[in-house]
Amino acid sequence: MHSKKYFIANWKMNGLKKDLNQILKVENFLKKKVNPASLNCIFCLPYTILGLAVAILKLSKIKVGSQDLSSEPFDFGAFTGQISSKMLKDLNCKYTIIGHSEKRSFGDSDQEINIKINMAVKNNLKVILCVGENLNEYKNKNSFTKVKRQLYYALNKNRKHLNNIIIAYEPIWSIGTGVIPNNNYLNSFFYKIKKYLNNEFKFNALLLYGGSVSSKNIKDLKKLNLCDGFLIGGASLKSKNFIDIIKNYYN
Ligand code: 13P
Repeated sequence: MHSKKYFIANWKMNGLKKDLNQILKVENFLKKKVNPASLNCIFCLPYTILGLAVAILKLSKIKVGSQDLSSEPFDFGAFTGQISSKMLKDLNCKYTIIGHSEKRSFGDSDQEINIKINMAVKNNLKVILCVGENLNEYKNKNSFTKVKRQLYYALNKNRKHLNNIIIAYEPIWSIGTGVIPNNNYLNSFFYKIKKYLNNEFKFNALLLYGGSVSSKNIKDLKKLNLCDGFLIGGASLKSKNFIDIIKNYYN
C-alpha cells in the first residue's frame, strides 16, 4: 500500500463556471484541516471549465484532470471535436481519466484506450485507468476475468509508462446505484488485481475504488488495506459531501 491517499472527483457532464466555487470550498477546508502530506486531491472536470479551474487553483494543492482525451495518435490534426493530450498539457492539466465505463459504453475499444494512455503519458499526463465488470459478469463470477483482460490490453503496450498510471476499480453495477461490494469481496479482489499486476508487469500499482462512495460508507471503505484512495462521482459535486467524505475518512 502507498501512504498518500487519493480523493479524486469525477464531475462527469456536470459543472458550470460558477460551480468551481465548490472546489474553492474544498480547497479552504484542506488548507485549514488536513495535513497536506496525507492526501492527493484531484478534480476531473468537463473540458469547458478545465482552463478556468487550472487558473483558479494555480496555487492550490488540488490538481486538475480531464475525463477523457482523443484516441487519435496525433497532437494536432483534422479531427473535429477532439481534444489531444498535448492540448490538455498546454492547459496545465495534470491528470486524465481513461477507460471509464461510461466512455466504454459509448464505444471506446481496448485499442483506443491503449492509444489514449500512450498519448497521455507521452505528454506527461498521469492516467487514471478505470476497469470494472457489469452486473451480469459479476453474477456469473466473471469479474476478475473481465478486469484482467481490460488491464492487459490497456497496459501491455504501455509497459514503459506504468509509473504514470493509477488503476481505479469501478464495478459498473455500483456506479450511481448506492450499492457497493462488501469489504471481504473488495479485499480479495484488490489482492488479485495487485498480484496480477505484479506478476504480469512487475507493477506495484496504486489502486483506487470507485462506485457510490459517500460520507456514509467511507468509514467502512477506509478498512480496505490495499486501497489507495477513491474515485468519486455524484458525491463530489457538492463541496459539503466531498468534504464530509474526507473528514469521515480521517476522523
Ligand atoms: P458515483 O460515485 O456517482 O457512483 O460514480 C462513480 C464513478 O463513476 C466515478 O468515476
